[in-house]
Amino acid sequence: MPRILIVANLPSDNCIALRDAVVRGASDPALDDITVNACAPLEAEADDVLEADGIIVGTTENFGYMSGLIKDFFERIYYPCLEKTEALPCALYVKGGLDGQGAKSAMERIITGLRWKPIRDTLVLHGEFRDEFVSNCEELGMQMAAGLEAGIY
Ligand SMILES: Cc1cc2nc3c(=O)[nH]c(=O)nc-3n(C[C@H](O)[C@H](O)[C@H](O)COP(=O)(O)O)c2cc1C
Repeated sequence: MPRILIVANLPSDNCIALRDAVVRGASDPALDDITVNACAPLEAEADDVLEADGIIVGTTENFGYMSGLIKDFFERIYYPCLEKTEALPCALYVKGGLDGQGAKSAMERIITGLRWKPIRDTLVLHGEFRDEFVSNCEELGMQMAAGLEAGIY
């Protein structure tokens, strides 16, 4: 049974809505063979990553970079996972205020180092919060789940 790990920092109701949408998409009832593990960044351990068949990481952009919590997550799991999670299917999303590109490129550099396999372009959501952000996140979760279930990733 494919297992999806979702790790996102949640400093605001908007961020919670986005993470919940990712979980909803990944848990779509049409896909009954998927296990979803949504973990707070401080609780996510290397073992959670090692057990995952796909990973979705979401961050806010803070000071032109990923959030401190997500950076801490990557710092803790990087070496324990390096060379054990090569080609792990992954999807990234960024919630920015006005931008998001700094956090996007910082996370992409790390997953390049880990040799994870992005299943799609990083989703960057910025500007005034819109309902469309929620549906974009739901689609992202569903894409990962459907691809794993179908054996595409
Ligand atoms: C300390 C701090 C630094 C931030 N730096 C940036 C930044 O560099 N670029 C950006 O686009 N947004 C920045 N933001 C905005 C956050 O990304 C935004 O608050 C977060 O995505 C939550 O969005 P929300 O206000 O819609 O809930 C910053 C917010 C905080 C609290």
